[in-house]
Amino acid sequence: MVKEKILVIGASGQIGVELTLALRKIYGNASVVASDLREENDLLKGTGPYVSLDVMNKEMLHVQVIRQNITQIYLLAAILSATGEKNPNLAWNLNMQSLLNVLDIAKEEKLHKVYWPSSIAVFGPTSPKINCPQQTIIEPITVYGISKYAGEFWCNYYHQRYGVDVRSLRYPGLISYKSAPGGGTTDYAVEIFHDALEEKHYNCFLKEDTYLPMMYMPDAIRATIELMEAPAEKISIRTSYNISAMSFSPKEIGEAIQKRIPDFTIFCKPDYRQAIADSWPRSIDDSEARKHWRWSQEYDLSKMTEDMLVHLKHNREKVVV
Ligand SMILES: NC(=O)c1ccc[n+]([C@@H]2O[C@H](COP(=O)([O-])OP(=O)(O)OC[C@H]3O[C@@H](n4cnc5c(N)ncnc54)[C@H](O)[C@@H]3O)[C@@H](O)[C@H]2O)c1
Repeated sequence: MVKEKILVIGASGQIGVELTLALRKIYGNASVVASDLREENDLLKGTGPYVSLDVMNKEMLHVQVIRQNITQIYLLAAILSATGEKNPNLAWNLNMQSLLNVLDIAKEEKLHKVYWPSSIAVFGPTSPKINCPQQTIIEPITVYGISKYAGEFWCNYYHQRYGVDVRSLRYPGLISYKSAPGGGTTDYAVEIFHDALEEKHYNCFLKEDTYLPMMYMPDAIRATIELMEAPAEKISIRTSYNISAMSFSPKEIGEAIQKRIPDFTIFCKPDYRQAIADSWPRSIDDSEARKHWRWSQEYDLSKMTEDMLVHLKHNREKVVV
């Protein structure tokens, strides 16, 4: 078996921390190099190698890939939907150039595999709202969505033209308790748990009936690893796979929390993020992922809510003690 050496770029972010830890369990701590522009996340400290790296600096990235004998890259550095609307140029530059830098190096160094996530943000107001299919009208209205859609076609291009084995998922909103979310429109579904435990109240920035596709982080990590470990011939979509687990509204997640914290209240006052959420589908058809590499989720709203509250309560008790 070929020994893989993996570089995770953006390892201190919401997905990066958990993905790095999961990859280290599979490939061994020393075989997974975490990297980020910001400092190493506390949860990663002592679990394996860490390098400080700006993915925009292609030369330095290239040096690291050669020096560390990297065979696979997971590129997670990006500016997300809500932050991107505040600084569109920065979002476009980072989201595009980081991907092109990685794809070029993957081509030159003949890396075995590259992972780069897209998002449901590729879809826009003209896409179907319910069970949005893999192939459909795609007219994103956020700079984040535009950058993800362009990125999907760069992945496809590098695969078709240069044989780079790059794989991708269109993640829905991701819910996690380990690391904080990084400025997306679905961040409310994480914040609500923290405020429920701290204040027994949450002020939501979306309307109560705004349905969005969501996924619990353990499912997202497993999906990512299953996609990356699937035989290449099973991966026939080289733009990015639709993937889904659950869809709910602020009202519904509020009710799921109230079942476990009866005096919890939620108040919804939409801000600029409502327009972003309104442009996205309410649910996603991921039948291709299920067919091609046998994707199947484990967590629904109830199971995820239960697990989030158990872990966050446990973390709070540790802090108090
Ligand atoms: N979290 C979600 O709900 C979600 C949903 C859909 C898609 N995604 C995608 O998944 C990927 C990871 O998202 P996340 O939620 O972990 O984001 P995040 O913002 O939490 O993490 C991104 C990390 O990238 C780092 N970074 C930024 N600029 C960098 C640079 N120039 N060089 C090196 N590192 C840099 C940041 O410091 C941060 O730690 C992104 O591509 C994002 O678009 C996330």
